[in-house]
Amino acid sequence: MLVFYCALSTCSNFKGYYVIRFDAVIHFAGLKAVGESVSKPLLYHDNNIVGTITLLEVMAAHGCKNLVFSSSATVYGWPKKVPCTEEFPLSAVNPYGRTKLFIEEICRDLRNSDSQWKIILLRYFNPVGAHPSGLIGEDPRGTPNNLMPFVQQVAVGRRQALTVFGKDYSTKDGTGVRDYIHVVDLADGHIAALKKLSDPKIGCDVYNLGTGKGTSVLEMVTAFEKASGKKIPLQIAGRRPGDAEVVYASIKKAETELKWKAKYGIEEMCKDQWNWASKNPFGYGSLESKK
Ligand code: WQD
Repeated sequence: MLVFYCALSTCSNFKGYYVIRFDAVIHFAGLKAVGESVSKPLLYHDNNIVGTITLLEVMAAHGCKNLVFSSSATVYGWPKKVPCTEEFPLSAVNPYGRTKLFIEEICRDLRNSDSQWKIILLRYFNPVGAHPSGLIGEDPRGTPNNLMPFVQQVAVGRRQALTVFGKDYSTKDGTGVRDYIHVVDLADGHIAALKKLSDPKIGCDVYNLGTGKGTSVLEMVTAFEKASGKKIPLQIAGRRPGDAEVVYASIKKAETELKWKAKYGIEEMCKDQWNWASKNPFGYGSLESKK
């Protein structure tokens, strides 16, 4: 389980003891593989939901009621139109998405019960890319569920070919369209949300973190081939159950209220992802192989 809580604190000295006071928590710890959530729902409900409830209880016990939570565009289910605004109806089409939806509702209930809570829910669209240093990147265990980590493993020779799930969608090239966002833009969105928590008008508010642009599977593959100089062999297969056809964000609310907008495009995402993958073909395991 990836546990990424970021607790921001200040330290004061009280009678020789150091007292750490947490100012806010960014909660992006959670299991996120859609396919795994279908086969192991209790693991997902326990880890994501019970884990969050435990965190919220501990935060309250330490007098910290400022939270930024990593939610997901998956709560839009199969949107009937695009771009998705934060006011769209919510539905979850798999256990992973349901954990995100339930946690959003838990946060809304908590704020309604105690107005001292200030909560911002960030709905991630499709995070890709890596830190430009090439030192931090995505390294999923087992077979990658998501598109770009799989493409990355084909490019470094760990996988033979990419299976394209569906080429009969009513999109420009028949493949699924998503809103891919650079992980560095995503991180900046969290900083903007932390700053927003000091706004007295904040209660429990939701913001999309996306680019507002839709990109198809084949367009992503072409961009990655250009960035890496590697050919990605393809196998065209049927649609993946549960996949939506086209999903991308309305970004007006984050732009206006968080004063945040994604800066990087597909080219930078693929360049940075390839920089990480080419330097770390086996992910963090690469360091082991160097010892
Ligand atoms: C994108 C497109 C696939 C793999 C995920 C999850 C969750 C969320 C990010 C945060 C689709 C196609 C994929 C492959 C393919 N994270 N594809 N071959 O399905 O939008 O959802 O979004 O909340 O992880 O909800 O992302 O990367 O799995 O798929 O053709 O081997 O790539 O059909 O069109 P998705 P994805």
